[in-house]
Amino acid sequence: MKAIVYTKYGTPDVLELKEVDKPIPKDDEVLIEVHAASVNDWDWGLLRGTPFMNRLLFGFLKPKYKILGSDIAGRVEAVGKNIKHFQPGDEVFGDLTGRWGGFAEYACARENALALKPASMTFDEAAAIPQAAMLAIQGLLDRGQIQSGQKLLINGAGGGVGTFGVQIAKLYGVEVTGVDSSGKLDMMRSMGFDHVIDYKQEDFTKNGKSYDLILDVKTNRSIFDYARSLSHNGIYVTVGGSMARIIQALFLGPWISLISKKKIRVVALKPNKDLAFMNELFEAGKVKPVIDGPFKLSEVPEAMRYFGEGTHKGKVVITLEDNNYT
Ligand SMILES: NC(=O)c1ccc[n+]([C@@H]2O[C@H](COP(=O)([O-])OP(=O)(O)OC[C@H]3O[C@@H](n4cnc5c(N)ncnc54)[C@H](OP(=O)(O)O)[C@@H]3O)[C@@H](O)[C@H]2O)c1
Repeated sequence: MKAIVYTKYGTPDVLELKEVDKPIPKDDEVLIEVHAASVNDWDWGLLRGTPFMNRLLFGFLKPKYKILGSDIAGRVEAVGKNIKHFQPGDEVFGDLTGRWGGFAEYACARENALALKPASMTFDEAAAIPQAAMLAIQGLLDRGQIQSGQKLLINGAGGGVGTFGVQIAKLYGVEVTGVDSSGKLDMMRSMGFDHVIDYKQEDFTKNGKSYDLILDVKTNRSIFDYARSLSHNGIYVTVGGSMARIIQALFLGPWISLISKKKIRVVALKPNKDLAFMNELFEAGKVKPVIDGPFKLSEVPEAMRYFGEGTHKGKVVITLEDNNYT
């Protein structure tokens, strides 16, 4: 099969389209013919070998997993003998975090990493959903306890998490402000953001406004700046960004909660937990992925470069060539 392979950390130039062995599913695995995949920040970090934690977990000097790509959508080709919920021909999607392998014609997954794809959802749409939508749901609902009538700010709002986040928040009747770079603000307005802030022009932590809930994708400010921007009972939730700032939030958050009613929380992603909920929202026409691209499998290096530049809007999607679906 064809796959995008890398054997050393580096820029997207180290990614190569190669012919490799098709994976063979174990007894508790499903073999999927991949029809689409999407790029996540974790793929970017694993390509670069940053932050250092990625090297500690996934290969100190060179990558342990040679094929990146965690969010996939495709058709089940074969199942191991212990698989109960899927059969050949099923259309599925999910997040393969921890094993990756999605930038390839075929990938293996455990069944708890997969959900059935609704017929009305394209493979490209399905591949855009898993990681970013789970982070948005778990950030806003599980950790953020979003409530109707609140004022929400999403920092880093024009990418994957933010474009799902605003659609989900709007279902709760929330007023949403999005912070990102100028080139994304029109798209963000069209997605339903009530207010947009260009972070190069305005520092939202110093504009005198306060928010009941802050969902942060970038975590590039001091935890005290964020606490200042929260309303009296406000909740700050980080899903990712600067590791040093996240560690600061973990250690100083409890102290801030002790001296005020504000809460500082960190999301630890539970991959695929809310795929069924996303299916419901999608089928009800309430949430639709924002797709940038799609790029072909051979164009993954270009797609990764584009993602790394940060100019993408929503999710960068890879559509696989030579598949016979329409
Ligand atoms: N918690 C967990 O367990 C877990 C698991 C997986 C991933 N993650 C994290 O989840 C996040 C995924 O986010 P995503 O998919 O939405 O990323 P994304 O698509 O890259 O979006 C991030 C957005 O932030 C913008 N941005 C850059 N600098 C900014 C700044 N200073 N202020 C405000 N916005 C800024 C970027 O645009 P410009 O570059 O144009 O400015 C981009 O639009 C990542 O941080 C990832 O590390 C967490």
